[in-house]
Amino acid sequence: MKIIHTISELREWRKTVGTVAFVPTMGNLHAGHMSLIHAAKAEAAHTVVSIFVNRLQFGQGEDFDRYPRTLQSDADIIAAHGGVDVIFAPDEKELYPNVIQQYQVNPPAIAEELCGAFRPGHFRGVATVVTKLFNIVEADVACFGKKDYQQLAVIQGMVADLNVPIRIVPVDTGRASDGLALSSRNGFLNEAQRAEAPRLFFHLSRMKKAIENGERDYSKLAIETVTDLRVRGWLEVDYVETRNALTLKPAASTDKHLVILIAARIGTTRLIDNIEVNLV
Ligand code: PAJ
Repeated sequence: MKIIHTISELREWRKTVGTVAFVPTMGNLHAGHMSLIHAAKAEAAHTVVSIFVNRLQFGQGEDFDRYPRTLQSDADIIAAHGGVDVIFAPDEKELYPNVIQQYQVNPPAIAEELCGAFRPGHFRGVATVVTKLFNIVEADVACFGKKDYQQLAVIQGMVADLNVPIRIVPVDTGRASDGLALSSRNGFLNEAQRAEAPRLFFHLSRMKKAIENGERDYSKLAIETVTDLRVRGWLEVDYVETRNALTLKPAASTDKHLVILIAARIGTTRLIDNIEVNLV
């Protein structure tokens, strides 16, 4: 397993191999990331994982500075899971030599909703760094988690609209046994918050079941969730939304493929989760 820090070395390596599957990450890897790596290995002869905490996608006052940087233990975890061919871990100067990234990828209006409404410019930062990484790694396939459902939709839209020559493979959300979606940010939770955090998945599951049983008043279901979370001491509930799973537009009562998305703050930690609902 090679750890490569420069774009030129990565390009040299790329010339020597066949098909490549790529997993972009910000590191601090957990079992959710491992399921992406596992999926990637099944898609191509070689696998590349990138680890780069991308300043461009963090807003003012967000957790860029405290985001955990754990390259050595990340490499150990990957190795313990059978390894990959390359870990690409550029430093900031390598990816952003000009400090300000002059050319950026601007996603459409849907990226200003949901998480985008609370994190202005976030998906521009994601789309820009992912484009750079795609152009550097030149992979055949890239794996993205459904955990970040809106991110996955933005990347799929970008790849389709800009004819980016790569296939996107969505991977199911990895969860703890109590339902909490695995996330690097779970490490910020204290014991009481960690015990409360699965409430998000509880409500997603509850809403899904209600919709499967015929409920179409999505805002009523959302209000029930928000009310319960507030009573239980969640500080801010950014959104609870039922959307069309393909377009991410607000769900119509006739839509068959839905996704319920939630974002809420417990203490200072913002958690997101979602669940798909497929009606037959
Ligand atoms: P990061 O948060 O490190 O996530 C990297 C990938 O792991 C993403 O595709 C994310 O959806 C996936 N992932 C995270 N938790 C998961 C879980 N519990 N189950 C399944 N997949 C999970 O997402 C980013 O980094 C960045 O925005 C990035 C795409 C790397 C661009 O900077």
